[in-house]
Amino acid sequence: MNTDIHQLTETLTRARQEVAKIIIGQSEVVDQALIVILTGHHALVEGVPGIAKTLLVRTLARVLGCEFARIQFTPDLMPADITGTNVFNLQRNEFVLVKGPVFTSFLLADEINRAPAKTQSALLQAMQERTVTIDRQTHPLPPNFTVFATQNPIEYEGTYPLPEAQKDRFMLKITMNYPAREEETSLAERMLGQESPEAMLARGAVQPVVTAEALVTLRQQLEHILVRPEMVGYAVDIVRTTRSSDSVLVGAGPRATQALVLASRAHAALNGRDFVTPDDIKAMTAPVLEHRLILRPEFEIEGLSVAEVIQRILQQVTVPR
Ligand SMILES: Nc1ncnc2c1ncn2[C@@H]1O[C@H](COP(=O)(O)OP(=O)(O)OP(=O)(O)O)[C@@H](O)[C@H]1O
Ligand SMILES: [Mg+2]
Repeated sequence: MNTDIHQLTETLTRARQEVAKIIIGQSEVVDQALIVILTGHHALVEGVPGIAKTLLVRTLARVLGCEFARIQFTPDLMPADITGTNVFNLQRNEFVLVKGPVFTSFLLADEINRAPAKTQSALLQAMQERTVTIDRQTHPLPPNFTVFATQNPIEYEGTYPLPEAQKDRFMLKITMNYPAREEETSLAERMLGQESPEAMLARGAVQPVVTAEALVTLRQQLEHILVRPEMVGYAVDIVRTTRSSDSVLVGAGPRATQALVLASRAHAALNGRDFVTPDDIKAMTAPVLEHRLILRPEFEIEGLSVAEVIQRILQQVTVPR
């Protein structure tokens, strides 16, 4: 294995270990978040309140030496509340840019569906272009800029659901499930014994394993991971099958294919390999496709879930050797 890739996989192993000091369990979720960061993309994060969504992103920021910010979306949030504004400074007799919270590395965008379309667009545009334009001046965002967006799944009233076309901009949908019983027990015990995970973070119990600058260089090492043409073909076949499946009304577009290939390559790195296997692609299929498929209503009424459809699709597609 090339020494640079070795350095990447070593760093990832240490990052996982540091995160595990704060986040109990959720190892698949941690890996998916790392994949999104490594590939320079963005994620939707879904999970009930109090399942450690905020804690996860905060912890990742600490471990990867990156800045963290959070925006709570509300119905009255304006685009400028995200991007920033030029404010007139009387003393200096000139306009000064006051940068908005989007100018950070890891951004937690909480309940994006609670803000109207115009405000959502400001965020989506920043995600896509990795720059922000204020009064016709364009400002670059930090190189590790990654958005983790949550949606409010329970109270649909007074929300503005993300249009399908915009969900496609998120590389993965990261689903956080309830912890296992032992994990929940150790969570409860930790609260009785030691300090809270937030206090641990604050006092520096977790150390960065890289700097933000080094992370940028490390991420480039992904290019040296081998993706054989058969593996690309496999990813393409999986995504194309979503378009012909009889239970699917709207299948996944070409962005899904790109996401699947890139996420699988990062998944290989996380597992200490410098080549992609069919298992990497299988592991990334659900989080890549989950938010991009719309089932036909009659199948939905029957109780079929997107997750089940994705498993069926995986069974249909021939696995390369
Ligand atoms: N897997 C876990 N590992 C460590 N702590 C956890 C875990 N799950 C829950 N917690 C605890 O739950 C608390 C709440 O976490 P957090 O505020 O990050 O949740 P959230 O998902 O962002 O909730 P909300 O949707 O209300 O914003 C944390 O402070 C932590 O103590
Ligand atoms: Mg939260």
